[in-house]
Amino acid sequence: MKYQLDNGFLTYDRRGMGIPLLFIHGYPLSRRIWNPQLDGLSDITSLISVDLRGHGESYPFQGPYSMDLLASDCKRLLDDLNLKSSILVCGLSMGGYVTLALYRKYPQLFRGMILTSTRSGTDSPEAKRNRDSSVNNVRELGISFIVENMLPKMVSPVTLLSKPDLVNSIRDIMVKTSVQGVVGALQGMRDRPDSTSLLPQINCPVVIIHGADDQLIPIHEAELMNQQITDSRLIAIAEAGHLPNLEQPEKFNQAIREFIQSLA
Ligand code: MLT
Repeated sequence: MKYQLDNGFLTYDRRGMGIPLLFIHGYPLSRRIWNPQLDGLSDITSLISVDLRGHGESYPFQGPYSMDLLASDCKRLLDDLNLKSSILVCGLSMGGYVTLALYRKYPQLFRGMILTSTRSGTDSPEAKRNRDSSVNNVRELGISFIVENMLPKMVSPVTLLSKPDLVNSIRDIMVKTSVQGVVGALQGMRDRPDSTSLLPQINCPVVIIHGADDQLIPIHEAELMNQQITDSRLIAIAEAGHLPNLEQPEKFNQAIREFIQSLA
């Protein structure tokens, strides 16, 4: 489905019955990463998975895409769907940065939060420089350069060896990101604010789900967030890297199912 946004549009899927749950993907990915969740959880929740601007099948707006801008896009879509409170939001990696930006502005939206493969802190000076060189690389060499560098770190070593079809489908999702999307997201992530001071203020239940073998955002980051959020629980998923929802979908879905049941 399409949602008209300024001079472009966002593309999203909606499936299932129950408490609304918005899924926000990471970089450079798309709503397709949530297909195992749409398939596995639609009996207990009404799922919405959106392609952020410049990603998947959404319009390739020019960047930069601040995390606030991406959060405001999600809010506008939710408003259009008449979802104004008591929803769940699940953000993966950059989607987690967007989830925290959404909470900062609209805490009343949230009945619960799922933070996966993400962190609350900001980029180090070295990470900011790496973002800038990635911007130059994608402009000069194209998206494949970014994808081939990043893909081996996206999943756990076990997944890389044992699930070649899954790895190929992740590659296919990544290469479909527009150059504008990659550049806009890199610039937005480089300049994102530190959300750590927000964590103690979160007053909805939170579950943090992290792959034990995440090479892009080590599980230590999830442990730090878990220490600072009052009502949170950390679930570490073995044999999963940065994409536990795809690498171990049954375990990931079970964690969300139990979280939803605990809210009843
Ligand atoms: C993501 O998966 O969204 C990115 O790895 C996050 C980041 O680069 O900070």
